Amino acid sequence: MLLALLSLAAMCRSVLPREPTVQCGSETGPSPEWMVQHTLTPGDLRYLQVELVKTGVATEDFSVLMNISWILRADASIRLLKATKICVTGKNNMQSYSCVRCNYTEAFQSQTRPSGGKWTFSYVGFPVELSTLYLIGAHNIPNANMNEDSPSLSVNFTSPGCLNHVMKYKRQCIEAGSLWDPNITACKKNEKTVEVNFTTNPLGNTYTVLIRRNVLLGISSVLENKLTRTSVAISVDEESEGAVVQLTPYLHTCGNDCIRREGTVVLCSETSAPFPPDNNRGMLGGWLPLLLVLLVATWVLAAGIYLTWRQGRSTKTSFPVTTVLLPPVKVLVVYPSEVCFHHTVCRFTDFLQNHCRSEVILEKWQKRKIAEMGPVQWLTSQRQAADKVVFLLASDIHTLCDSACGQDEGSTRENSQDLFPLAFNLFCSDFSSQTHLHKYLVVCLGGANIKGDYDALSVCPQYHLMKDATAFHTDLLKVTQNVSMKKRSKACQGSCSPL
Ligand SMILES: *[C@@H]1O[C@H](CO)[C@@H](O)[C@H](O)[C@H]1NC(C)=O
Ligand SMILES: *[C@@H]1O[C@H](CO)[C@@H](O)[C@H](O)[C@H]1NC(C)=O
Ligand SMILES: *[C@@H]1O[C@H](CO)[C@@H](O)[C@H](O)[C@H]1NC(C)=O
Ligand SMILES: *[C@@H]1O[C@H](CO)[C@@H](O)[C@H](O)[C@H]1NC(C)=O
Ligand SMILES: *[C@@H]1O[C@H](CO)[C@@H](O)[C@H](O)[C@H]1NC(C)=O
Repeated sequence: MLLALLSLAAMCRSVLPREPTVQCGSETGPSPEWMVQHTLTPGDLRYLQVELVKTGVATEDFSVLMNISWILRADASIRLLKATKICVTGKNNMQSYSCVRCNYTEAFQSQTRPSGGKWTFSYVGFPVELSTLYLIGAHNIPNANMNEDSPSLSVNFTSPGCLNHVMKYKRQCIEAGSLWDPNITACKKNEKTVEVNFTTNPLGNTYTVLIRRNVLLGISSVLENKLTRTSVAISVDEESEGAVVQLTPYLHTCGNDCIRREGTVVLCSETSAPFPPDNNRGMLGGWLPLLLVLLVATWVLAAGIYLTWRQGRSTKTSFPVTTVLLPPVKVLVVYPSEVCFHHTVCRFTDFLQNHCRSEVILEKWQKRKIAEMGPVQWLTSQRQAADKVVFLLASDIHTLCDSACGQDEGSTRENSQDLFPLAFNLFCSDFSSQTHLHKYLVVCLGGANIKGDYDALSVCPQYHLMKDATAFHTDLLKVTQNVSMKKRSKACQGSCSPL
C-alpha cells in the first residue's frame, strides 16, 4: 500500500512542471526584447533587497559581493514573464554601471509556488566597494514598449566602511588595520586624569590618543613597537565622564590613513563606588552631614569667586577669561599644486585641526579673498596672521583623489593656482634671520624630500610624518607660547618706540 502511494507520488512529480530557477548573465546593453512590440507585458516586482556576502575561502582572494533578492508579484501577468534584469549604478569617485539579466528556466504556471509561498529568487554578484552609494534597479522582461513606462523597482544601498563585520576582510581594510582589536578601555581616574588602556598593533609604533567631547579635552602620543597591552594617563581640562576616546594608529601599511577607533570614558571602578551602600541607616541620617558640608563648600567657593573677580576687575581690566583653553595655533599651509588636495592636504589639515589644536589657513578656502587682494598681498597678510607656516611636501602617486573634506566638489584642481613657488620666493628672505625662521616648518609626507629649486627650505625644521608626529606636535605647541609671548613684547615696544 505504502509502496503504491510512493510510486504514485513519484509519477505525479514527474508530470508536474519543474519549478523555475534563474540563470543569470551580464547584459549591459538593451535587451533583445526592446526591439519587438509586445501587446502584453508582465507586471513589476513586488520586493527587492540587497545584502552583503563575502566569497572566497582564502582571505587573499576574498571579495564582497551583493546578494540581490527579489519577490515576484502574484498576479496573472506572471505567465508572460521570461526574465528579470537588474542594473547597478555605483556612485563613488568614479561612477560604475553594469547589468545582469536573469532568465527563468521555465515558464510560470502558477502565481505562487506549489508549496504556497511567493516566488523568490536571488542573484549573487556585483563587487562592493567601501562606503559607496549603489542604486539598484530591476525590471521584468519582456519590458514595456519603447515609448511606454517600464514598471521597475529600485532600492538604494550604501555599503559600509571597513569596520563592518563583512567589509573588514577586504584587503584595503586589512591594510588599514581593520582586523586589529585594540580593545580600548578608558576610565576617569580623577577630575584631571583619564586612564586609557589598549592593545597595540605589531605593525605600528606610534599612536595618538585623544579625549574629546565637542572640544578636545586632552591628547597624548604613545610609542610602542611590540604587541602589548599599554596604558596611558591623559590629563584633561574638563569633565571627562562619557567623553569619547579616539585612538589613531600609524601602521606601516596605512601611515596616515589608518582606521581610527573609538571608546567611551567611564568612571574607574575604584572611584565609582566611593561610598559603599549603607543599608542599616535612614537615608537622610546618612546624607545630612554631607549636604551641610556641600552647602558650606558652595558658599565658600561662591565668595571666593566673587572676591577674585572683584580683585581681577580692579587691577586688570583685560584679564583673559579662558585660562584653561589656550588659543588655537594659526597655521598657514602651502603645498605644490600637484599634491592631491583631497587625499593629502585635507588629511593633513584634519590632523592639524584634530590633533594639534590648530586653525588652518588654506589657499583653497580663501579663493575669493585671493582674487580680491591678489596672491602676493594675500600671502603677505597670511604670513602676518599665522603663527606657523607649513610647507607641505608629499610624494603621493595617488591617482585616486577622494572627495571628502566638507568642501564643495566644484573647485577641482584646474582652477587651483600654485601658490607654492610664490610663497617660497616671498618668504625665502625670512630663512636667513633666526628671529623669523622659527615660524617655518617643512612637513614631508610619504617619504617626500626637499629637492631642486626649494633647497633653501633645508634650513627649516623638517618633520617626516607620521614618524615624527610627536616631535611635530610638541614643537608646534611649544612655539605657540613663544610666539604669543613675543607678540606681547612686540606690542609693548611698539607703544614705546616707533618702529
Ligand atoms: C537569456 O535569454 C536571452 C534571450 O533568450 C539570451 O540572449 C541570453 O543569452 C540568456 N541568458 C542566459 C544567462 O542564459
Ligand atoms: C541571498 O539572499 C537570499 C534571501 O535572503 C537567501 O535565501 C540566500 O541564501 C542568500 N544567498 C547567499 C549566497 O547568501
Ligand atoms: C536613491 O538615491 C538617489 C540619489 O541620491 C535619489 O535620487 C533617489 O531618490 C534614491 N532612491 C530611493 C528609493 O531612495
Ligand atoms: C578586553 O580587555 C578587557 C580588560 O583587559 C578583558 O577583560 C577582555 O577580555 C578583553 N576583550 C577582548 C575581546 O580581548
Ligand atoms: C589598565 O590597566 C591597568 C594595569 O593592568 C589596570 O590596573 C587598570 O584598571 C586598567 N584600566 C582600565 C581603564 O582598563
